[in-house]
Amino acid sequence: MTTLKGYWAKRSRMCGDLRREDAGSEVVLNGWVQRRRDHGGVIFIDLRDVSGLVQVVCNPEVSAAAHAAAEGVRGEYVIYCRGTVRTRPEEAVNPKLPTGEVEVIAEEVGIISQSPTPPFEIQEESGVDEALRLRYRYLDIRRPDLRQALILRSRVTGEVRDFLSSRGFLEIETPILTKSTPEGARDFVVPSRLQPGKFYALPQSPQLFKQLLMVAGLDRYYQIARCFRDEDLRADRQPEFTQIDLEMSFVEPEDVISLMDEMFSRLFLLFLEVELPTPFPRLTWREAMERYGSDRPDLRYGMEIHDYTDAFARSEFKVFRNAVENGGRVRGFKIDGLVSPPRRELDELVEEAKRLGSSGLVWMVREGEGLRSPVAKFLSREEVEALAEASGLREGEVLLLAAGGPEIGPVLAGMREYCARRFNLPCSSRFAFVWVTEFPLFDWDEEEKRYKSNHHPFTAPSPDAIDLLEERPLEVTSQSYDMVLNGVELGGGSIRIHDHAVQERVFSVLGLSREEAEDKFGFLLEALRYGPPPHGGIAYGLDRIVMLMAGRDSIRDVIAFPKTQSGSDPLTGAPDAVYPGQLRELRLRPL
Ligand code: AMO
Repeated sequence: MTTLKGYWAKRSRMCGDLRREDAGSEVVLNGWVQRRRDHGGVIFIDLRDVSGLVQVVCNPEVSAAAHAAAEGVRGEYVIYCRGTVRTRPEEAVNPKLPTGEVEVIAEEVGIISQSPTPPFEIQEESGVDEALRLRYRYLDIRRPDLRQALILRSRVTGEVRDFLSSRGFLEIETPILTKSTPEGARDFVVPSRLQPGKFYALPQSPQLFKQLLMVAGLDRYYQIARCFRDEDLRADRQPEFTQIDLEMSFVEPEDVISLMDEMFSRLFLLFLEVELPTPFPRLTWREAMERYGSDRPDLRYGMEIHDYTDAFARSEFKVFRNAVENGGRVRGFKIDGLVSPPRRELDELVEEAKRLGSSGLVWMVREGEGLRSPVAKFLSREEVEALAEASGLREGEVLLLAAGGPEIGPVLAGMREYCARRFNLPCSSRFAFVWVTEFPLFDWDEEEKRYKSNHHPFTAPSPDAIDLLEERPLEVTSQSYDMVLNGVELGGGSIRIHDHAVQERVFSVLGLSREEAEDKFGFLLEALRYGPPPHGGIAYGLDRIVMLMAGRDSIRDVIAFPKTQSGSDPLTGAPDAVYPGQLRELRLRPL
């Protein structure tokens, strides 16, 4: 049949919903042509919409008009199809497709809109260059994995909203055009036309506003908040990203942590059918650094780091003995799940450790009563026995050791990650959550020779450490907590300082003069004078949560319109120059 110009039949069902029970019913479908196959007389069309795919059969013996129309159909055309659902013959059932037991016998087909051949095939993981996919993101999103990720993202967000509002949280928006917030990254700034020479900053997070909302007495706030940070981009970092941001009044760390355990176990049960045991494990920052060398340990793997310093105190092996004599330690871990690897792979490990910044790495493999190792000849029988005993090394197992100061922690942490990947080591579980708590309140910035907040300057010190603020700032721990999943920091938060005087003391340790503090955060300091409740909260990277739930490696795979590594958007061409007139209005000069 010829298609009437502008005419199209509106769908009665979604393509991906049709099942065996629908056999015999008449349906109208609207969708995109995934594939058209001409099997000598009969044309098969795979028709796709947001719900999935179904096979449409255009047989000239059923409808010559539908068949004729199908001849003019091409990939990515939008069509409508009226027809009858039929169960497929046994041998034609496609078990990979949810609709694989049925097909639709077309009685009428019409083209709604046409498409040139797309620049890449619309199918699962087609191995197409990412820049091209981003340039044609609207086509890329037609692929099932990206579409599924965005559907999951929407459902997760909806569930988070339901959960938090059922617990008394109010969803409140905070400004996007605002003043710089101190999350440690560079700000994106926006020039003001009405006040030439002045700038807004886009929020790195709604941190200060959510605290003000607690002072305002709203008790529990949340927001699915866009945040902006001008920092170097990685697989899990975008210049604009989304936080699940929340804040609660009259709480201690335990209240925030246990509520979040509940929220996450619910999300994972609902969307992934994974039952997570609660409470999630917890490590203090100190324990995490000692046992895993990292503040975001991946607990899917064992490979716990132990201290072997005692075994080398009087060793003939000079490198280790010297390190120990100079106050260093010998630390290392057993590669759980690896037995008798070839020498070449062990030497690769040493190379990797050097890439990670270590001066060296020693491997040892248990062989019978002894140890095979490049340094075995320097080790006495007693040392070998002590090591074998302390490490619990069994036949063929490998122990990695490094000697030095605190810098070996990150090297060993990097080696844990490398080993897990390189040897494809078995995981103890698909998802390993862990809370890391009590971070130091301050870090020492060697370059700038000053203290910096480890989290942000509003984080409360642990009550028993407040007295050390001025004397020994680096020993002060904080009431902070990060949630880590599979080695990725999902979120972080803290109890905040609600005492105006303590806040001023913290600013002072940070080297902020009264005037500077007043200039930057005067409005917060002032608010803290007007009856602030004790409060605390947390913010999660929504992109990271969905990335891990969807089993992806990059947050770009769960964001509809992400930026490239260099911060540009190949689709719109942002960032771009603006007209000279726009610059003039803003009193800005072109470069
Ligand atoms: P923080 O700076 O730790 O804390 O950020 C919280 C979480 O946001 C996510 N995140 C990012 N995701 C993608 N791209 C980025 N560039 C990016 N930067 C951060 C991470 C991180 O764990 N206001 C505090 C929270 C609080 O104290 O309540 C804050 O923003 O998943």
